[in-house]
Amino acid sequence: MIVLGVETSCDETSVSVVIDGKTVLSNIVLSQIDIHKAYGGVVPEIASREHVKGITYVFDQAIKQANITFEQVDLIAVTEGPGLIGSLLIGVNAAKTLSLNYQIPIIGIHHISGHIYANNIEHDMKFPLLALVVSGGHTEIILMKEHYDFQKLGETQDDAVGEAYDKVARILGLPYPGGPQVDKLAILGEDTLHFPRPMMTSPDFNFSFSGLKSHVINLHHNMIQRNEAIIIEDFCRSFQDAVTDILVKKTQDALLKYPVKQVIVAGGVAANKGLRKKMLDSIKDVPVCFPNIKYCTDNAAMIAVSGYFKYQKFHKTDNYMLNGSSRLSLHKGE
Ligand code: KG4
Ligand code: ZN
Repeated sequence: MIVLGVETSCDETSVSVVIDGKTVLSNIVLSQIDIHKAYGGVVPEIASREHVKGITYVFDQAIKQANITFEQVDLIAVTEGPGLIGSLLIGVNAAKTLSLNYQIPIIGIHHISGHIYANNIEHDMKFPLLALVVSGGHTEIILMKEHYDFQKLGETQDDAVGEAYDKVARILGLPYPGGPQVDKLAILGEDTLHFPRPMMTSPDFNFSFSGLKSHVINLHHNMIQRNEAIIIEDFCRSFQDAVTDILVKKTQDALLKYPVKQVIVAGGVAANKGLRKKMLDSIKDVPVCFPNIKYCTDNAAMIAVSGYFKYQKFHKTDNYMLNGSSRLSLHKGE
């Protein structure tokens, strides 16, 4: 089954062709990072305009690189939410136009299900599994007993982990998106600042990162006021160690309650080298999988994979009524 994936929920315009939820024939990602960098974060209005500018080119490139024609596509899978509404609508409307024009069935996909299914490209998902979702907008632990069955065990009560990374990076004067920058510098530093690890030992599977973020920001501010030398690498390392300790401990706690066959990590922060190492070093009884770095951050291949498995499970598609939705929950049958 040839699935054409479409992803425009934030600041990447992406279209991909994937066979049977596994073999990626093309995955074109047009990133807007350089444009939003000047503003220190994503500007929604600009993001929508850039999607409009790039989407036709990205569709054509994805088809060309896959060496197929639109007529050969069996299913179009498009991110319907959550995300920036103006951005989502560009992808959804472009996908619906193609669907009507070529009479190809269309299916709406939850963005986070895409991040989870990115793991299937290079690993076969084995159930039951635990998914640690760590992106710019989400931090959750999800239990999956079978394909397309998402049971949320816990989530962040405030900031998402990627969001905390980006805010800490901004205070430290690092360019947007800050997560990869903090990761790079953390490797060169030491955990000298011993930041708190909020909710690490709470008896649930929830997270909280805004207190930690404020702690880092306040300390940085106070040190500047006192004219103390700031070792940026140590700030990054201390923050990263606190975050990864929390993420690993919560995953270990979930594993004690839910013995599973596999742990998968999903979302932009799954690219984090410190997190990858700590997860692999700390969890030995169960295989821990990460997507290839190129499938961690937003891309359409993951949406095509998720679309394939959603269709295989429910044998249902959407129609021209499909719409973008900035808030959308991830639950069974969605
Ligand atoms: O999943 P994603 O591409 O977009 C959302 O769905 O939110 O995640 C983007 C987030 C950003 O906050 C970015 O800073 C973070 O993932 N990120 C990282 C790394 N690479 C991307 N955070 C920490 N370490 C990284 N290596
Ligand atoms: Zn994402």
